This record gives sequence, C-alpha cells and structure tokens, in this order.
Amino acid sequence: MSLVITGSVAYDYLMSYPGRFRDHILPEQLNNLSVSFLADSMRRERGGVAANIAYTNRLLGGSPIILATVGHDFGDYRRWLEDQGISTEQIIEIPEDLTATFFVSTDQEQNQIANFYTGAMVHAQEYSLADRGLTGSELVLISPNDPIAMVNYARECKALGIPFAYDPSQQLARLSGEDLAAGIPGAKFLLCNEYEIAVVQNKTGWTLQEVRDQVETLIVTQGKKGSSIYHNGQEILIPIAPIERIDDPTGAGDAFRGGLFAAWMAGLPWDVAGRVGALCSTYALEQIGTTSHRFTPDEFISRYESYFGAQPELARLRQPAAVA
Ligand SMILES: Nc1ncnc2c1ncn2[C@@H]1O[C@H](COP(=O)(O)OP(=O)(O)OP(=O)(O)O)[C@@H](O)[C@H]1O
Ligand SMILES: [Mg+2]
Repeated sequence: MSLVITGSVAYDYLMSYPGRFRDHILPEQLNNLSVSFLADSMRRERGGVAANIAYTNRLLGGSPIILATVGHDFGDYRRWLEDQGISTEQIIEIPEDLTATFFVSTDQEQNQIANFYTGAMVHAQEYSLADRGLTGSELVLISPNDPIAMVNYARECKALGIPFAYDPSQQLARLSGEDLAAGIPGAKFLLCNEYEIAVVQNKTGWTLQEVRDQVETLIVTQGKKGSSIYHNGQEILIPIAPIERIDDPTGAGDAFRGGLFAAWMAGLPWDVAGRVGALCSTYALEQIGTTSHRFTPDEFISRYESYFGAQPELARLRQPAAVA
C-alpha cells in the first residue's frame, strides 16, 4: 500500500531583477515587444510539485513513490532524492530530452515573468499506472503535470477503482471545463487554493455545494487565513500555524499536501491532518526554496503541540517507514 505522487519534477531557475519591469515595457509598443532584463542574482533549485510534496511527506515518515518523466540532466537530482530516502524507481528518464525547467524573474515590486518548459514532462502521457505496476496503490495524487497525463490518470483511476486525489493547481489554466467535469467526479479528494476553487466553479458552472457533492473530501487552502476541509457534510476550519518569518512565499501549498497526506495515511482525523499540513507550510515558508526545510518527527510533534495542544495520536508519525 502506498502513496503515488504524479506531477512535475523540474529544475527551477529563480532570478531577481534590480528594477521594475514596468519601466521597460512600453504599452504603445506591445505589438513588437522585445525586452531583456539583466538579473543580478540567480539560484538553481530542485523543484516540481511532485518532488516538493514527496519531500515533506518523507520528513513525516511517508514512503511516497514519485511517478514522473525527466530528462538526461537528472542525475544529481536523482541522487539527492535517494539521499532523502525517496524512491526514484518510477522516475523515468527520457534520454533525448531535458528535465522540465521553470524560469522566473522577479522585479523589485515582486512582479514576475515566468516560463515553464515542459521538456521530458510531455512524455508522462505515455506511461499509465498499469504499465508501471501501480494499480494497487492506496492513493494516487494527480498534481500539475502534462495536461494529457492528468486527464489519463484520472480516467485510469476511475476505470480501475484506484482512490485518487485531484490537485490541478497551476495546470488549471490548461484544463477545460470538460476536462474538470471528467476528472473531478469520483475523486476521493479535491485540493485547491481559494483562487483555484473559483476557477473550477467558473469553468464547470458548479456551485461550491455541487463541487462538494462530487468528491468525498474537498480541501481549500486560503493562504494566511488557513484552510477549510469539507467532509461528510461538515466544514472543518483549520487555522494557520504561527510563523516566525516568511523568507520565501512559495511552496506553502506543496508542503501542506505532503503533511496532510502523511497524516491521513497514518490514520489521523481531518482536524489533526489539516493542522499537520498547516505546520508543514509554516516550516516551508520560513526557508528559501521549496525543499530547504527540515525537521525530525519529534521536533515536528513538539512544535505542533506547543501551538495546538497535546495530541497523542501524532506518535503515529514517529516511525519513518522504509523506502518503498
Ligand atoms: N502567511 C502565512 N502564514 C502562515 N501560514 C500560511 C501563510 N500562507 C499560507 N499558509 C499556510 O499554507 C497553506 C497553503 O497556502 P496557500 O493557500 O497560499 O497555498 P497555495 O496558494 O497553493 O500556495 P503555493 O504558492 O505554494 O502554490 C495555508 O492553508 C496555510 O496553512
Ligand atoms: Mg498552489
């Protein structure tokens, strides 16, 4: 029994531009736009949604299996994942391609210009769960990936009765109302942030109640307002975990998912699992990068209890499972 995380695995190039983009974009010249910004700092990070979620899940004792396609430049990233105790057996190398790569420049006003190159990720659509021997999984997470692969995984999970969590996030822009109406019904979980649930409603024409009716559990994160878990006709309100400082606003959503599913797989109730997710987000926000945070299960439990009170059931997170 295992958690399979399908989604992007990518290199991220994060640049900062020491000025304002808008000073160099002339509205009357938009039909022949040609701008180049000289960045004064750049970091190259290991990223991708599936890897980010798997990283935090592993910190809490999970044994996630990442199912993804990567390129010939993946060697150092693969070694790093293995050093974290994360299985890379289902990370398939496409020798003629580069790993998906995210380029983003941020100016002094926090405006961003980004490109995401799909690279080897486009081949995700060629690998089914059945091909990879993963049909016995306890839960398949369908996170941002090649859009065709996302549609295929939802269809396959439904056809074979594999429980799945639908997590369209950044890829919502590429999924049509029909794709969503085909993917969401029958999902065990649907995960969105506040903006994304509005997009889902807009594209499908469903009300919030109608979205709730399609899935067993709907999880909506709302940034610094916390999150809501809709389950069994109830709305469970999850507060944020207090934060010491925000060093980097990215990665909160991925860390939340990694923690939430570690807690869910350990059999913890939703109110606890949601708080575990929230504290994982806090840890991620306090560090630069999406996989720079670190904690042992014991450190995590004592910080959790200092905010939310004693919770003996958290001891279930203490025993890291073996690598799958
Ligand atoms: N400023 C904050 N302080 C404390 N916790 C936060 C803050 N922002 C977000 N969180 C926590 O992270 C969770 C997920 O955040 P959010 O709803 O912003 O996800 P997201 O928009 O998917 O983020 P991402 O940028 O990673 O995609 C929230 O439910 C909350 O628990
Ligand atoms: Mg997100």
